[in-house]
Amino acid sequence: MDLEKLLTDRLAPAFAAVAGGPVDPVVRRSQHADFQSDAPLALARRLGRPPRAIAAEVRDRAELADLCAAVEVSGPGFLNLTVADRALGDLVSALAADPRLGVPVVAGPETVVVDYSAPNVAKEMHVGHLRSTVIGDAAARLLEWLGHRVRRANHLGDWGTPFGMLIEHLVDLGEAEAAQELSMGDLDGFYTAARAKFDDDAAFRERSRLRVVALQGGDAATLRLWQLLVAQSESYFLTVYDLLDVTLSRTDFRGESSYHELLAPTVGELDRLGLLRRSDGAECVFPSGSVGRDGEPLPLIVRKSDGGYGYPATDLAALRHRTGTLGATRLLYVVGLPQRRHFEMVFATAAQAGWLAPPARAEHVGFGSILGPDGRMLRSRAGGAVKLVGLLTEAVERATALARERNPELGEAEAAEVGRAVGIGAVKYADLSSDRHKDYVLDWERMLSLDGNTAPYLQYAYSRIRSIFRRAGVAAARPDAAVEPVEPAERALAIELLGFPAVVDEVAGSLEFHHLAAYLHRVASAFSAFYERCPVLRAEGPARESRLVLCDVTARVLHQGLDLLGIRTPERL
Ligand code: ARG
Repeated sequence: MDLEKLLTDRLAPAFAAVAGGPVDPVVRRSQHADFQSDAPLALARRLGRPPRAIAAEVRDRAELADLCAAVEVSGPGFLNLTVADRALGDLVSALAADPRLGVPVVAGPETVVVDYSAPNVAKEMHVGHLRSTVIGDAAARLLEWLGHRVRRANHLGDWGTPFGMLIEHLVDLGEAEAAQELSMGDLDGFYTAARAKFDDDAAFRERSRLRVVALQGGDAATLRLWQLLVAQSESYFLTVYDLLDVTLSRTDFRGESSYHELLAPTVGELDRLGLLRRSDGAECVFPSGSVGRDGEPLPLIVRKSDGGYGYPATDLAALRHRTGTLGATRLLYVVGLPQRRHFEMVFATAAQAGWLAPPARAEHVGFGSILGPDGRMLRSRAGGAVKLVGLLTEAVERATALARERNPELGEAEAAEVGRAVGIGAVKYADLSSDRHKDYVLDWERMLSLDGNTAPYLQYAYSRIRSIFRRAGVAAARPDAAVEPVEPAERALAIELLGFPAVVDEVAGSLEFHHLAAYLHRVASAFSAFYERCPVLRAEGPARESRLVLCDVTARVLHQGLDLLGIRTPERL
Protein backbone atom coordinates (compact mmCIF):
# COMPACT_ATOMS: atom_id res chain seq x y z
CA MET A 1 0.00 0.00 0.00
CA ASP A 2 2.65 2.40 1.11
CA LEU A 3 4.23 3.95 -1.98
CA GLU A 4 7.72 4.42 -0.61
CA LYS A 5 7.78 0.80 0.42
CA LEU A 6 6.37 -0.41 -2.90
CA LEU A 7 9.02 1.50 -4.83
CA THR A 8 11.72 0.30 -2.46
CA ASP A 9 10.65 -3.31 -2.94
CA ARG A 10 10.81 -2.93 -6.71
CA LEU A 11 14.16 -1.17 -6.75
CA ALA A 12 15.91 -3.40 -4.23
CA PRO A 13 16.39 -6.42 -6.54
CA ALA A 14 17.74 -4.19 -9.31
CA PHE A 15 20.24 -2.60 -6.92
CA ALA A 16 21.19 -6.00 -5.56
CA ALA A 17 21.91 -7.27 -9.07
CA VAL A 18 24.11 -4.28 -9.86
CA ALA A 19 25.91 -4.29 -6.52
CA GLY A 20 26.18 -8.05 -6.09
CA GLY A 21 24.58 -7.73 -2.64
CA PRO A 22 21.74 -6.02 -0.81
CA VAL A 23 21.49 -2.22 -1.03
CA ASP A 24 18.89 0.06 0.57
CA PRO A 25 17.47 2.10 -2.34
CA VAL A 26 16.83 5.11 -0.01
CA VAL A 27 13.56 6.26 -1.58
CA ARG A 28 12.19 9.63 -0.47
CA ARG A 29 9.90 12.40 -1.64
CA SER A 30 11.42 14.70 -4.20
CA GLN A 31 10.82 18.20 -5.48
CA HIS A 32 11.66 17.22 -9.04
CA ALA A 33 9.54 14.09 -9.35
CA ASP A 34 7.24 12.25 -6.96
CA PHE A 35 10.08 10.29 -5.40
CA GLN A 36 13.79 9.86 -5.80
CA SER A 37 16.32 7.21 -4.98
CA ASP A 38 19.67 8.48 -3.72
CA ALA A 39 21.39 5.14 -3.47
CA PRO A 40 23.30 5.15 -6.79
CA LEU A 41 25.71 7.80 -5.45
CA ALA A 42 26.94 5.82 -2.46
CA LEU A 43 26.99 2.61 -4.46
CA ALA A 44 29.06 4.24 -7.21
CA ARG A 45 31.66 5.29 -4.67
CA ARG A 46 31.77 1.76 -3.35
CA LEU A 47 32.10 0.16 -6.78
CA GLY A 48 34.35 2.89 -8.17
CA ARG A 49 32.06 3.49 -11.15
CA PRO A 50 30.30 6.63 -12.46
CA PRO A 51 27.06 7.21 -10.52
CA ARG A 52 24.95 8.06 -13.55
CA ALA A 53 25.92 4.75 -15.14
CA ILE A 54 24.87 2.91 -12.00
CA ALA A 55 21.58 4.79 -11.91
CA ALA A 56 20.92 3.95 -15.56
CA GLU A 57 21.65 0.29 -15.00
CA VAL A 58 19.30 0.11 -12.03
CA ARG A 59 16.63 1.92 -14.07
CA ASP A 60 16.94 -0.65 -16.87
CA ARG A 61 16.76 -3.61 -14.53
CA ALA A 62 13.98 -2.44 -12.19
CA GLU A 63 10.47 -3.69 -12.85
CA LEU A 64 8.56 -0.48 -12.53
CA ALA A 65 6.50 -0.41 -15.73
CA ASP A 66 3.11 -0.82 -13.99
CA LEU A 67 3.94 1.59 -11.18
CA CYS A 68 5.85 4.45 -12.76
CA ALA A 69 5.15 6.70 -15.71
CA ALA A 70 8.75 7.85 -15.79
CA VAL A 71 12.06 6.73 -14.29
CA GLU A 72 14.87 9.16 -15.03
CA VAL A 73 18.50 9.52 -14.18
CA SER A 74 19.05 13.04 -12.92
CA GLY A 75 21.71 15.33 -11.47
CA PRO A 76 24.90 13.64 -10.33
CA GLY A 77 23.18 10.24 -10.28
CA PHE A 78 19.75 10.23 -8.66
CA LEU A 79 16.86 8.21 -9.95
CA ASN A 80 13.72 10.31 -10.28
CA LEU A 81 10.50 8.35 -10.07
CA THR A 82 7.15 9.60 -11.31
CA VAL A 83 4.26 7.40 -10.27
CA ALA A 84 1.71 6.61 -12.98
CA ASP A 85 -1.67 8.32 -12.47
CA ARG A 86 -3.36 5.01 -12.94
CA ALA A 87 -1.29 3.27 -10.24
CA LEU A 88 -1.87 6.17 -7.89
CA GLY A 89 -5.62 5.99 -8.46
CA ASP A 90 -5.72 2.24 -7.87
CA LEU A 91 -3.77 2.58 -4.63
CA VAL A 92 -6.12 5.27 -3.35
CA SER A 93 -9.10 3.09 -4.28
CA ALA A 94 -7.64 0.25 -2.25
CA LEU A 95 -7.16 2.63 0.69
CA ALA A 96 -10.74 3.84 0.35
CA ALA A 97 -12.02 0.28 0.43
CA ASP A 98 -10.09 -0.54 3.60
CA PRO A 99 -11.81 0.44 6.87
CA ARG A 100 -8.33 0.61 8.46
CA LEU A 101 -6.94 2.92 5.77
CA GLY A 102 -4.09 0.61 4.93
CA VAL A 103 -2.94 0.05 8.50
CA PRO A 104 -2.91 -3.68 9.29
CA VAL A 105 -3.58 -5.17 12.69
CA VAL A 106 -0.19 -6.38 14.00
CA ALA A 107 0.66 -10.01 13.36
CA GLY A 108 2.25 -10.55 16.78
CA PRO A 109 0.23 -8.66 19.39
CA GLU A 110 2.07 -7.91 22.61
CA THR A 111 0.93 -7.13 26.11
CA VAL A 112 1.93 -3.52 26.63
CA VAL A 113 1.70 -1.71 29.94
CA VAL A 114 1.35 2.05 29.60
CA ASP A 115 2.16 3.74 32.90
CA TYR A 116 0.82 7.27 32.65
CA SER A 117 -0.90 10.22 34.28
CA ALA A 118 -0.06 9.11 37.84
CA PRO A 119 -1.06 12.16 39.87
CA ASN A 120 -0.75 12.14 43.64
CA VAL A 121 -3.66 11.66 46.04
CA ALA A 122 -4.76 14.80 47.87
CA LYS A 123 -2.62 16.92 45.57
CA GLU A 124 -3.71 18.97 42.62
CA MET A 125 -2.95 17.66 39.13
CA HIS A 126 -0.53 20.12 37.58
CA VAL A 127 0.63 20.75 34.05
CA GLY A 128 3.36 18.09 34.30
CA HIS A 129 0.62 15.50 34.72
CA LEU A 130 -1.07 16.98 31.66
CA ARG A 131 1.82 15.96 29.43
CA SER A 132 1.97 12.46 30.87
CA THR A 133 -1.78 12.05 30.55
CA VAL A 134 -2.02 13.31 26.98
CA ILE A 135 1.04 11.49 25.60
CA GLY A 136 0.28 8.29 27.50
CA ASP A 137 -3.29 8.24 26.31
CA ALA A 138 -2.20 8.67 22.69
CA ALA A 139 0.20 5.74 23.14
CA ALA A 140 -2.53 3.56 24.63
CA ARG A 141 -4.98 4.46 21.86
CA LEU A 142 -2.48 3.88 19.07
CA LEU A 143 -1.14 0.56 20.33
CA GLU A 144 -4.64 -0.70 21.06
CA TRP A 145 -5.79 0.24 17.56
CA LEU A 146 -2.88 -1.75 16.18
CA GLY A 147 -4.14 -4.82 18.02
CA HIS A 148 -1.88 -4.96 21.06
CA ARG A 149 -3.25 -5.87 24.50
CA VAL A 150 -2.86 -2.58 26.29
CA ARG A 151 -2.94 -2.38 30.08
CA ARG A 152 -3.31 1.19 31.29
CA ALA A 153 -1.59 1.65 34.63
CA ASN A 154 -2.32 4.83 36.55
CA HIS A 155 0.50 4.67 39.08
CA LEU A 156 -1.18 6.99 41.55
CA GLY A 157 0.88 8.35 44.43
CA ASP A 158 -1.39 6.94 47.14
CA TRP A 159 1.02 5.61 49.75
CA GLY A 160 3.87 6.74 51.96
CA THR A 161 4.68 9.02 54.87
CA PRO A 162 2.61 12.09 53.80
CA PHE A 163 -0.52 10.04 54.46
CA GLY A 164 0.06 10.23 58.19
CA MET A 165 -0.45 14.00 58.20
CA LEU A 166 -3.19 13.89 55.56
CA ILE A 167 -5.24 11.43 57.59
CA GLU A 168 -4.76 13.41 60.80
CA HIS A 169 -5.86 16.56 59.03
CA LEU A 170 -8.93 14.72 57.79
CA VAL A 171 -9.69 13.62 61.35
CA ASP A 172 -9.37 17.25 62.54
CA LEU A 173 -11.67 18.56 59.85
CA GLY A 174 -14.25 15.83 60.25
CA GLU A 175 -14.99 13.38 57.47
CA ALA A 176 -17.94 15.23 55.99
CA GLU A 177 -16.15 18.56 55.82
CA ALA A 178 -13.00 16.96 54.38
CA ALA A 179 -14.97 15.08 51.74
CA GLN A 180 -16.67 18.32 50.77
CA GLU A 181 -13.36 20.14 50.37
CA LEU A 182 -11.78 17.34 48.37
CA SER A 183 -14.73 16.76 46.07
CA MET A 184 -14.71 20.43 45.10
CA GLY A 185 -11.24 19.84 43.80
CA ASP A 186 -9.53 21.96 46.42
CA LEU A 187 -6.78 19.43 46.72
CA ASP A 188 -3.92 21.82 47.16
CA GLY A 189 -5.76 23.69 49.92
CA PHE A 190 -6.17 20.45 51.83
CA TYR A 191 -2.56 19.43 51.37
CA THR A 192 -1.16 22.84 52.26
CA ALA A 193 -3.22 23.04 55.47
CA ALA A 194 -2.02 19.60 56.54
CA ARG A 195 1.55 20.54 55.75
CA ALA A 196 1.35 23.79 57.71
CA LYS A 197 0.13 22.00 60.84
CA PHE A 198 2.83 19.37 60.40
CA ASP A 199 5.50 22.05 60.26
CA ASP A 200 4.23 24.16 63.19
CA ASP A 201 2.67 21.75 65.62
CA ALA A 202 4.79 19.10 67.37
CA ALA A 203 1.77 17.21 68.73
CA PHE A 204 0.29 16.99 65.22
CA ARG A 205 3.64 15.75 63.95
CA GLU A 206 3.67 12.98 66.52
CA ARG A 207 0.08 11.96 65.71
CA SER A 208 1.03 11.86 62.03
CA ARG A 209 4.01 9.64 62.74
CA LEU A 210 1.87 7.18 64.69
CA ARG A 211 -0.70 7.27 61.90
CA VAL A 212 1.88 6.17 59.33
CA VAL A 213 2.80 3.26 61.56
CA ALA A 214 -0.89 2.33 61.91
CA LEU A 215 -1.41 2.62 58.16
CA GLN A 216 1.52 0.40 57.33
CA GLY A 217 0.51 -2.02 60.06
CA GLY A 218 -2.88 -2.44 58.38
CA ASP A 219 -4.97 -0.87 61.16
CA ALA A 220 -8.57 -1.13 59.95
CA ALA A 221 -9.81 2.26 61.15
CA THR A 222 -6.80 3.98 59.59
CA LEU A 223 -7.18 2.11 56.32
CA ARG A 224 -10.79 3.25 56.15
CA LEU A 225 -9.78 6.91 56.51
CA TRP A 226 -6.99 6.46 53.98
CA GLN A 227 -9.44 4.85 51.56
CA LEU A 228 -11.71 7.88 51.94
CA LEU A 229 -8.92 10.21 50.87
CA VAL A 230 -8.01 8.01 47.92
CA ALA A 231 -11.61 7.62 46.76
CA GLN A 232 -12.24 11.37 46.86
CA SER A 233 -9.13 12.11 44.84
CA GLU A 234 -9.87 9.34 42.36
CA SER A 235 -13.34 10.73 41.69
CA TYR A 236 -11.83 14.13 41.16
CA PHE A 237 -9.17 12.82 38.75
CA LEU A 238 -11.90 11.02 36.79
CA THR A 239 -13.74 14.30 36.22
CA VAL A 240 -10.51 15.75 34.80
CA TYR A 241 -10.03 12.72 32.52
CA ASP A 242 -13.59 13.08 31.36
CA LEU A 243 -13.08 16.74 30.51
CA LEU A 244 -9.85 15.82 28.71
CA ASP A 245 -11.37 12.95 26.70
CA VAL A 246 -8.82 10.59 28.17
CA THR A 247 -9.53 6.86 28.13
CA LEU A 248 -8.35 6.22 31.71
CA SER A 249 -11.11 4.81 33.86
CA ARG A 250 -11.71 3.74 37.42
CA THR A 251 -10.40 0.25 36.68
CA ASP A 252 -7.01 1.59 35.60
CA PHE A 253 -5.98 2.96 38.99
CA ARG A 254 -2.90 1.03 40.04
CA GLY A 255 -1.70 3.16 42.89
CA GLU A 256 1.61 2.62 44.59
CA SER A 257 -0.33 1.02 47.44
CA SER A 258 -1.28 -1.91 45.22
CA TYR A 259 2.36 -3.06 45.26
CA HIS A 260 2.65 -2.74 49.03
CA GLU A 261 2.60 -6.50 49.65
CA LEU A 262 5.15 -7.10 46.92
CA LEU A 263 7.81 -4.77 48.34
CA ALA A 264 9.34 -7.10 50.93
CA PRO A 265 9.49 -10.13 48.61
CA THR A 266 10.96 -8.00 45.83
CA VAL A 267 13.71 -6.60 48.00
CA GLY A 268 14.20 -10.08 49.51
CA GLU A 269 14.79 -11.44 46.05
CA LEU A 270 17.40 -8.76 45.34
CA ASP A 271 19.12 -9.81 48.53
CA ARG A 272 19.01 -13.49 47.60
CA LEU A 273 20.58 -12.60 44.24
CA GLY A 274 23.40 -10.84 46.08
CA LEU A 275 22.56 -7.47 44.55
CA LEU A 276 22.08 -5.55 47.82
CA ARG A 277 24.71 -3.48 49.54
CA ARG A 278 24.41 -1.46 52.69
CA SER A 279 25.35 2.16 52.29
CA ASP A 280 24.82 4.84 54.98
CA GLY A 281 22.38 2.54 56.76
CA ALA A 282 20.24 2.00 53.67
CA GLU A 283 19.92 -1.08 51.47
CA CYS A 284 21.03 -0.20 47.95
CA VAL A 285 21.60 -1.69 44.54
CA PHE A 286 24.45 -0.28 42.49
CA PRO A 287 23.25 -1.10 38.97
CA SER A 288 26.04 -1.50 36.47
CA GLY A 289 26.31 1.43 34.10
CA SER A 290 24.95 4.07 36.49
CA VAL A 291 27.71 6.38 37.59
CA GLY A 292 27.66 9.93 38.89
CA ARG A 293 29.62 12.87 37.56
CA ASP A 294 32.61 11.86 39.65
CA GLY A 295 32.60 8.39 38.07
CA GLU A 296 31.44 6.77 41.33
CA PRO A 297 28.69 4.12 41.02
CA LEU A 298 25.26 5.49 41.97
CA PRO A 299 23.03 3.79 44.54
CA LEU A 300 19.36 2.97 44.00
CA ILE A 301 17.94 2.98 47.52
CA VAL A 302 15.50 0.12 47.86
CA ARG A 303 15.13 0.24 51.63
CA LYS A 304 15.69 3.37 53.64
CA SER A 305 17.64 3.46 56.90
CA ASP A 306 14.32 3.71 58.82
CA GLY A 307 13.29 0.39 57.28
CA GLY A 308 10.69 1.93 54.93
CA TYR A 309 10.50 1.17 51.22
CA GLY A 310 10.24 4.13 48.88
CA TYR A 311 9.58 5.14 45.30
CA PRO A 312 12.36 2.99 43.70
CA ALA A 313 11.31 -0.19 45.52
CA THR A 314 7.72 0.39 44.43
CA ASP A 315 8.76 0.76 40.80
CA LEU A 316 10.83 -2.41 41.01
CA ALA A 317 7.91 -4.36 42.50
CA ALA A 318 5.55 -2.93 39.86
CA LEU A 319 7.92 -3.81 37.03
CA ARG A 320 8.39 -7.35 38.29
CA HIS A 321 4.61 -7.70 38.52
CA ARG A 322 4.13 -6.34 34.99
CA THR A 323 6.54 -8.75 33.31
CA GLY A 324 6.16 -11.69 35.68
CA THR A 325 2.44 -11.73 36.39
CA LEU A 326 0.88 -9.73 33.57
CA GLY A 327 3.27 -11.16 31.00
CA ALA A 328 3.92 -7.78 29.45
CA THR A 329 6.77 -7.54 26.95
CA ARG A 330 6.70 -3.80 26.39
CA LEU A 331 6.66 -1.48 29.39
CA LEU A 332 6.15 2.22 28.78
CA TYR A 333 6.71 4.85 31.47
CA VAL A 334 5.33 8.20 30.40
CA VAL A 335 7.04 10.41 32.96
CA GLY A 336 8.92 13.71 32.78
CA LEU A 337 12.59 13.80 31.81
CA PRO A 338 13.79 14.74 35.33
CA GLN A 339 13.08 11.12 36.29
CA ARG A 340 15.32 9.73 33.58
CA ARG A 341 18.07 8.60 35.93
CA HIS A 342 15.56 6.93 38.23
CA PHE A 343 14.19 4.80 35.38
CA GLU A 344 17.62 3.98 33.99
CA MET A 345 18.56 2.59 37.37
CA VAL A 346 15.26 0.76 37.90
CA PHE A 347 15.51 -0.86 34.45
CA ALA A 348 19.16 -1.80 34.94
CA THR A 349 18.42 -3.32 38.35
CA ALA A 350 15.45 -5.25 36.97
CA ALA A 351 17.58 -6.55 34.11
CA GLN A 352 20.27 -7.72 36.54
CA ALA A 353 17.62 -9.43 38.66
CA GLY A 354 16.24 -11.21 35.58
CA TRP A 355 12.84 -9.49 35.69
CA LEU A 356 13.40 -7.66 32.45
CA ALA A 357 14.74 -10.11 29.92
CA PRO A 358 14.18 -10.10 26.14
CA PRO A 359 11.72 -10.02 24.52
CA ALA A 360 10.52 -7.82 27.41
CA ARG A 361 11.88 -4.29 27.39
CA ALA A 362 11.11 -1.06 29.17
CA GLU A 363 11.13 2.46 27.77
CA HIS A 364 11.09 5.74 29.60
CA VAL A 365 8.85 7.87 27.37
CA GLY A 366 10.22 11.12 28.74
CA PHE A 367 9.08 14.65 28.05
CA GLY A 368 10.11 18.23 28.71
CA SER A 369 8.27 21.02 30.50
CA ILE A 370 5.50 23.38 29.51
CA LEU A 371 6.76 26.95 29.59
CA GLY A 372 4.94 30.23 30.05
CA PRO A 373 5.09 33.07 27.50
CA ASP A 374 8.21 34.36 29.29
CA GLY A 375 10.01 31.13 28.40
CA ARG A 376 10.18 30.04 32.04
CA MET A 377 8.36 27.17 33.75
CA LEU A 378 4.62 27.84 33.58
CA ARG A 379 3.50 29.37 36.89
CA SER A 380 0.23 30.73 38.18
CA ARG A 381 -0.03 34.44 39.01
CA ALA A 382 0.52 33.58 42.67
CA GLY A 383 3.72 31.80 41.63
CA GLY A 384 2.49 28.25 42.27
CA ALA A 385 2.00 25.37 39.86
CA VAL A 386 -0.76 25.97 37.33
CA LYS A 387 -3.88 24.00 38.15
CA LEU A 388 -4.73 21.73 35.28
CA VAL A 389 -8.49 22.22 35.52
CA GLY A 390 -8.00 25.99 35.41
CA LEU A 391 -5.99 25.67 32.23
CA LEU A 392 -8.56 23.39 30.58
CA THR A 393 -11.46 25.60 31.57
CA GLU A 394 -9.70 28.60 30.08
CA ALA A 395 -9.10 26.68 26.83
CA VAL A 396 -12.77 25.74 26.52
CA GLU A 397 -13.93 29.29 27.31
CA ARG A 398 -11.58 30.85 24.77
CA ALA A 399 -12.54 28.32 22.07
CA THR A 400 -16.27 28.74 22.75
CA ALA A 401 -15.98 32.52 22.44
CA LEU A 402 -14.06 32.15 19.18
CA ALA A 403 -16.63 29.67 17.84
CA ARG A 404 -19.48 32.13 18.54
CA GLU A 405 -17.56 34.95 16.94
CA ARG A 406 -16.72 32.99 13.80
CA ASN A 407 -20.10 31.42 13.42
CA PRO A 408 -22.94 33.46 14.99
CA GLU A 409 -25.42 30.94 13.57
CA LEU A 410 -24.33 28.25 16.06
CA GLY A 411 -26.91 27.54 18.77
CA GLU A 412 -25.90 27.65 22.46
CA ALA A 413 -25.54 23.90 22.81
CA GLU A 414 -23.61 23.49 19.59
CA ALA A 415 -21.27 26.38 20.41
CA ALA A 416 -20.53 24.74 23.76
CA GLU A 417 -19.91 21.40 22.07
CA VAL A 418 -17.61 22.93 19.46
CA GLY A 419 -15.83 25.03 22.09
CA ARG A 420 -15.09 21.98 24.11
CA ALA A 421 -13.85 19.88 21.17
CA VAL A 422 -11.69 22.72 19.85
CA GLY A 423 -10.43 23.99 23.22
CA ILE A 424 -9.46 20.60 24.59
CA GLY A 425 -8.22 19.51 21.16
CA ALA A 426 -6.02 22.60 20.95
CA VAL A 427 -4.40 21.90 24.33
CA LYS A 428 -3.75 18.26 23.51
CA TYR A 429 -2.51 19.00 20.00
CA ALA A 430 -0.14 21.75 21.17
CA ASP A 431 1.43 19.12 23.37
CA LEU A 432 1.47 16.23 20.91
CA SER A 433 2.67 18.29 17.96
CA SER A 434 5.83 19.35 19.80
CA ASP A 435 8.85 17.10 20.06
CA ARG A 436 8.25 15.55 23.48
CA HIS A 437 11.93 15.60 24.37
CA LYS A 438 11.85 19.38 24.37
CA ASP A 439 10.09 22.06 26.39
CA TYR A 440 7.34 24.02 24.67
CA VAL A 441 5.71 27.37 25.23
CA LEU A 442 2.01 27.51 25.98
CA ASP A 443 0.74 30.15 23.56
CA TRP A 444 -3.05 30.56 23.46
CA GLU A 445 -3.13 32.63 20.28
CA ARG A 446 -1.07 30.14 18.36
CA MET A 447 -2.71 26.97 19.55
CA LEU A 448 -6.25 28.22 18.92
CA SER A 449 -5.40 29.68 15.52
CA LEU A 450 -7.14 28.33 12.44
CA ASP A 451 -3.85 28.54 10.54
CA GLY A 452 -0.73 26.56 11.09
CA ASN A 453 0.02 23.24 12.71
CA THR A 454 -2.88 23.38 15.17
CA ALA A 455 -5.87 21.26 16.12
CA PRO A 456 -8.37 23.88 14.92
CA TYR A 457 -6.74 23.89 11.47
CA LEU A 458 -7.13 20.12 11.16
CA GLN A 459 -10.63 20.15 12.64
CA TYR A 460 -11.55 22.90 10.22
CA ALA A 461 -10.28 20.88 7.24
CA TYR A 462 -12.33 17.93 8.44
CA SER A 463 -15.51 19.97 8.88
CA ARG A 464 -15.07 21.53 5.44
CA ILE A 465 -15.03 18.08 3.87
CA ARG A 466 -18.08 17.05 5.84
CA SER A 467 -19.87 20.11 4.56
CA ILE A 468 -19.03 19.11 0.98
CA PHE A 469 -20.82 15.82 1.57
CA ARG A 470 -23.76 17.58 3.21
CA ARG A 471 -24.07 19.80 0.18
CA ALA A 472 -23.69 16.82 -2.15
CA GLY A 473 -26.52 15.18 -0.26
CA VAL A 474 -24.59 11.97 0.32
CA ALA A 475 -22.94 10.53 3.41
CA ALA A 476 -19.76 9.36 1.69
CA ALA A 477 -18.18 8.80 -1.72
CA ARG A 478 -19.39 5.96 -3.95
CA PRO A 479 -17.32 2.98 -2.88
CA ASP A 480 -16.83 1.68 -6.42
CA ALA A 481 -15.92 5.04 -7.98
CA ALA A 482 -12.64 4.99 -9.92
CA VAL A 483 -9.99 7.37 -8.62
CA GLU A 484 -8.18 9.29 -11.33
CA PRO A 485 -5.77 11.83 -9.93
CA VAL A 486 -4.39 13.88 -12.83
CA GLU A 487 -4.05 17.47 -11.64
CA PRO A 488 -0.81 18.10 -9.70
CA ALA A 489 -2.79 19.08 -6.59
CA GLU A 490 -4.84 15.88 -6.78
CA ARG A 491 -1.74 13.78 -7.24
CA ALA A 492 -0.01 15.50 -4.31
CA LEU A 493 -2.99 14.84 -2.04
CA ALA A 494 -3.19 11.21 -3.15
CA ILE A 495 0.50 10.67 -2.40
CA GLU A 496 0.12 12.16 1.10
CA LEU A 497 -2.90 9.98 1.86
CA LEU A 498 -0.96 6.86 0.93
CA GLY A 499 1.66 7.75 3.54
CA PHE A 500 -0.63 7.12 6.53
CA PRO A 501 0.39 3.49 7.26
CA ALA A 502 4.10 4.30 7.25
CA VAL A 503 3.68 7.16 9.73
CA VAL A 504 1.53 5.08 12.06
CA ASP A 505 4.07 2.29 11.96
CA GLU A 506 6.96 4.61 12.74
CA VAL A 507 5.14 6.34 15.61
CA ALA A 508 4.11 3.02 17.19
CA GLY A 509 7.83 2.43 17.68
CA SER A 510 9.17 5.89 18.47
CA LEU A 511 6.11 7.26 20.31
CA GLU A 512 7.04 10.61 18.81
CA PHE A 513 3.57 11.86 18.15
CA HIS A 514 4.78 15.06 16.58
CA HIS A 515 5.54 12.98 13.48
CA LEU A 516 1.89 11.94 13.25
CA ALA A 517 0.80 15.53 13.90
CA ALA A 518 3.11 16.88 11.19
CA TYR A 519 1.79 14.26 8.80
CA LEU A 520 -1.85 15.20 9.47
CA HIS A 521 -0.92 18.82 8.94
CA ARG A 522 0.63 17.94 5.56
CA VAL A 523 -2.56 16.08 4.61
CA ALA A 524 -4.75 19.04 5.58
CA SER A 525 -2.49 21.45 3.69
CA ALA A 526 -2.50 19.22 0.60
CA PHE A 527 -6.27 19.11 0.88
CA SER A 528 -6.58 22.92 0.97
CA ALA A 529 -4.37 23.25 -2.09
CA PHE A 530 -6.42 20.60 -3.88
CA TYR A 531 -9.72 22.19 -2.89
CA GLU A 532 -8.57 25.58 -4.12
CA ARG A 533 -7.59 24.30 -7.53
CA CYS A 534 -9.90 21.38 -8.21
CA PRO A 535 -13.65 21.95 -8.07
CA VAL A 536 -15.42 18.99 -6.52
CA LEU A 537 -19.16 19.54 -6.60
CA ARG A 538 -18.92 21.64 -9.77
CA ALA A 539 -16.96 18.90 -11.55
CA GLU A 540 -18.89 16.41 -13.60
CA GLY A 541 -19.07 12.68 -14.15
CA PRO A 542 -16.06 10.54 -13.23
CA ALA A 543 -13.95 13.54 -12.15
CA ARG A 544 -16.55 14.48 -9.55
CA GLU A 545 -16.78 10.90 -8.28
CA SER A 546 -13.01 10.57 -8.17
CA ARG A 547 -12.61 13.83 -6.25
CA LEU A 548 -15.30 12.83 -3.80
CA VAL A 549 -13.27 9.72 -3.01
CA LEU A 550 -10.19 11.87 -2.37
CA CYS A 551 -12.28 14.08 -0.05
CA ASP A 552 -13.69 11.08 1.72
CA VAL A 553 -10.33 9.40 2.32
CA THR A 554 -8.87 12.73 3.49
CA ALA A 555 -11.65 13.11 6.05
CA ARG A 556 -11.19 9.55 7.24
CA VAL A 557 -7.42 9.91 7.60
CA LEU A 558 -7.87 13.16 9.54
CA HIS A 559 -10.55 11.63 11.73
CA GLN A 560 -8.59 8.47 12.43
CA GLY A 561 -5.32 10.30 12.98
CA LEU A 562 -6.87 12.81 15.37
CA ASP A 563 -8.73 10.04 17.15
CA LEU A 564 -5.39 8.30 17.80
CA LEU A 565 -4.25 11.57 19.38
CA GLY A 566 -7.44 11.67 21.44
CA ILE A 567 -8.87 14.69 19.62
CA ARG A 568 -12.47 15.07 18.43
CA THR A 569 -13.58 16.06 14.95
CA PRO A 570 -16.89 17.96 15.06
CA GLU A 571 -18.99 17.82 11.91
CA ARG A 572 -19.17 21.61 11.78
CA LEU A 573 -17.15 24.34 13.40
N1 ARG B 1 3.36 10.14 40.94
C1 ARG B 1 4.58 10.50 40.28
C2 ARG B 1 4.67 12.02 40.14
O1 ARG B 1 3.69 12.71 40.31
C3 ARG B 1 4.70 9.88 38.91
C4 ARG B 1 4.73 8.38 38.85
C5 ARG B 1 5.23 7.87 37.54
N2 ARG B 1 5.18 6.44 37.36
C6 ARG B 1 6.01 5.60 37.93
N3 ARG B 1 5.86 4.30 37.71
N4 ARG B 1 7.02 5.95 38.68
O2 ARG B 1 5.75 12.52 39.86
